[in-house]
Amino acid sequence: MFEVLPQLAPDPILGLSVAYREDSNPDKIDLGVGVYKDEKGNTPILNSVAKAQRILLDRETSKTYITPQGNQGYIDGMLSLLLGEQSRVLMANRVAAVQAPGGCGALRILSELLVRCSAKTKVWVSDPTWANHIPLIGSSGLQLETYPYFNKAATGINFDAMLETLKKTEKGDVVLLHGCCHNPTGADLTNAQWDAVLEVAQERGFLPFLDVAYLGFGDGLEEDAYGVRLMAENLPEVIIAASCSKNFGLYRERVGLAAIITENSQTRQIAQGQIQSVARGIYSMPPSYGGALVDIILADEGLKHEWVSEVNAMRNRMQTLRAMLVDKLEENGAQRDFSFLNTQKGMFSFLCITPEQVLEVREKHSVYFVESSRVNIAGINQQNVDTLAKALVSVL
Ligand code: LMR
Repeated sequence: MFEVLPQLAPDPILGLSVAYREDSNPDKIDLGVGVYKDEKGNTPILNSVAKAQRILLDRETSKTYITPQGNQGYIDGMLSLLLGEQSRVLMANRVAAVQAPGGCGALRILSELLVRCSAKTKVWVSDPTWANHIPLIGSSGLQLETYPYFNKAATGINFDAMLETLKKTEKGDVVLLHGCCHNPTGADLTNAQWDAVLEVAQERGFLPFLDVAYLGFGDGLEEDAYGVRLMAENLPEVIIAASCSKNFGLYRERVGLAAIITENSQTRQIAQGQIQSVARGIYSMPPSYGGALVDIILADEGLKHEWVSEVNAMRNRMQTLRAMLVDKLEENGAQRDFSFLNTQKGMFSFLCITPEQVLEVREKHSVYFVESSRVNIAGINQQNVDTLAKALVSVL
């Protein structure tokens, strides 16, 4: 039966880890998959998470099923983090939400919910967007369109073109926006640009679909929530997919959240039942472990404080690494100005070099990153930055 299926190329992001592992060059550099790494190249368990694990080990008395909506403490903690402690939509009981298996699980079940509303729904995604958005959203049957976002030649956002396209959307269209730390470009909207997008959403009536996978990695946990809170507080309906993979370092535990802000509390009840039934039809209920850890951290003032410091430390280190790379490129004689990397945010940046140059630096110098020129900034360290800069300069 399966011989009728075509052989697929490796995944454009995950396939890089396999290629990197197989490379015997001792000076190889991995800037592929978006995983935070410390100075030694390890991805350690956060201290706050390690402490929560010990608490959970003592506290958990059963492995019976949890409910389709997941851990309510986790959901409430995450909603406060995303929407703010004083959120009016939370107070008005207008938010339906479920714990989801990772940000991917959240993106998929929200897409399936949109199909239940109308299979003809158009979803606009940024050009470029995270490669996995396309199968996650597109495979549910929704129609994908793109809006201009990043201009490689100008190394920045083409905001006028973005707004112009958003002004052509129709009521009922969905627009996927990266809440912060745009993946793959690292180029984020300013607060004033978010305000302008809100105005267009109000004018045209599109539904914002916010993907928030890097909260805290841009300017701070509060600052990075500007866009999501602006949309939530000022529009009747918004949907949000959030992930704890990066900011809690819980990658393999698959901890996400799907939230639906509805016009009123009656519709909230409908949405809650529908999203749970979507989840039941795909994976029944989310895994418990990671959500239980986040619940423990967010409910304990001391642990939460420690976690916030750990997020701040990761963010600050990534900003230092950006600056280090920019300086090293200059020091090694790069003819181009790479200072735009310092203005980008979060884990990723577009180096704005050609796919041919990306492949050349991979083949000749064993430096691995996505063909679009997306690099994982967290993969840079004091030991490899000089080799990296020299390798990049040699292919420019
Ligand atoms: C990435 O963008 O590298 C991460 O979100 C990992 C993934 O699943 O692609």
